[in-house]
Amino acid sequence: SKKITKICCIGAGYVGGPTMAVIAQKCPEITVTVVDINEKRIAAWNDTDLSRLPVYEPGLDRVVEEARGRNLFFSTDVDKAIDEAEMIFISVNTPTKTYGKGKGMAADLKFIELCARQIARVAKDDKIVVEKSTLPVRTAQALKSILHNTGNGVHFDILSNPEFLAEGTAIEDLHAPDRVLIGGEDKGAIEALVQVYAGWVPRENILTTNVWSSELSKLTANAFLAQRVSSINALSELCEKTGADVNEVARAIGTDSRIGPKFLKASVGFGGSCFQKDILNLVYIAKSYGLHEVADYWEQVILMNDHQKRRFADNIVTTLYNTVSGKKIAFLGWAFKKDTNDTRESAAIYVADHLLSEQAEIVVYDPKVPAEQVYADLDYLNTRSEDENRRLVTVINDPYEATKEAHAIAVLTEWDEFKTYDWDRVYNNMLKPSFVFDGRAILDKESLEAVGFDVYTIGIGDGTMR
Ligand code: NAD
Ligand code: UDX
Repeated sequence: SKKITKICCIGAGYVGGPTMAVIAQKCPEITVTVVDINEKRIAAWNDTDLSRLPVYEPGLDRVVEEARGRNLFFSTDVDKAIDEAEMIFISVNTPTKTYGKGKGMAADLKFIELCARQIARVAKDDKIVVEKSTLPVRTAQALKSILHNTGNGVHFDILSNPEFLAEGTAIEDLHAPDRVLIGGEDKGAIEALVQVYAGWVPRENILTTNVWSSELSKLTANAFLAQRVSSINALSELCEKTGADVNEVARAIGTDSRIGPKFLKASVGFGGSCFQKDILNLVYIAKSYGLHEVADYWEQVILMNDHQKRRFADNIVTTLYNTVSGKKIAFLGWAFKKDTNDTRESAAIYVADHLLSEQAEIVVYDPKVPAEQVYADLDYLNTRSEDENRRLVTVINDPYEATKEAHAIAVLTEWDEFKTYDWDRVYNNMLKPSFVFDGRAILDKESLEAVGFDVYTIGIGDGTMR
């Protein structure tokens, strides 16, 4: 099959940016152009100050530095990039629909369809179109019907190549993926994409399947991963009641090689742009085929996650003598996990929303999330006015300032730096009694108690024989 030398990627987000940067880094003979309609985002990708890239990911700055201007380009000229490319990745967002049929469940495919129509309009020679976005199974059918009805004789091959990187570890994940998945019909097109990845991924780690298996595997992988988190979180509540310690339980079961040790960390709830969206999508697809038991089974993963966020907030209220009205609660962390500036669906947003409804005052510290993002996340919920969000929530970029005179600290993200703080100093500046609610089980409960804190850790019950 023909060797690809020109790639275009539509969508310069958390997936398109890092993924294409690594392809460009590993395949210097391929020119990679990443395009987006968001001018600010493209300008940030082109910023000479690498600390201002739009996506924070450890190691990303060095990859961009190496490839940008050599064979990696960021541009807003979508038509030109489509016209010149032999292979076009579609990596635009596919959020949950917020209107109409399937509202709150189905994936909104309008951005995908717009890309397909633009490709159909612009392309003058044959192209391989690659679904990089996470899509409902059978989307390739829709793309095919849009692309193949242009009447200009251009031939399109459609491949599914879902992305399995996790934020915070995107560069490691892209450099050494457990597997690359490519689904398609045309052997030549599949081989052309295999060749790109073979630039650095061992052949045996490149799986090829039919296009529907590939599309469905992405939703399935995220459903299984999220299910593990909801499973351990369900047990975390039982641990608290029975005196068990969920970390000990996780270790005990995780050493069974059939279960495995990963993704068993109890938390205040999973967040991120993928898990909830993709499971809701899976549930919607199952329902649309009349598979109600299948739909209900997977929906429970989401319901458990909602419960976990809610009960964490409720526990703060109960512990603070049943009222947080007018009390200052300091949030350590706002991102949905450590080592990212992404806050989409972060548990912190929902915990804050519950506490704000109880009239708490919240002070947020996160090492990578700017104030305007915190406000945007809360405003998006539409629970209260924008003015009220700004009156009740303060964002401070110093953890010691943020916790000063607080009634309680809530740990919402597992940032490593939280473990290194001078907790004596934090304690001395707080109101007494000083409460810590550790939603990530990262702080050492016993040493904080020795300092004087009242500590609640997710999933840890009282282990004594009383
Ligand atoms: P994102 O919102 O960060 O980026 C998407 C970008 O696409 C935006 O910058 C947007 O401006 C751009 N865009 C939308 N329509 C466009 C158009 N018509 N032309 C040009 N640009 C357009 O989203 P993301 O997190 O990168 O996710 C992209 C896809 O990858 C989603 O389907 C998601 O489910 C999937 N995915 C995400 C992750 C993750 O960790 N974030 C992991 C695997 C898969
Ligand atoms: C996820 C998938 O892991 C990735 O393969 C896919 O491509 C995109 O979606 P991401 O959402 O970026 O990646 O991060 P992930 O590490 O999966 O974490 C998701 C959420 O689950 C985070 O809020 C995280 O804190 C939480 N989590 C994860 C736990 O609470 N406990 C765990 O043991 C693991």
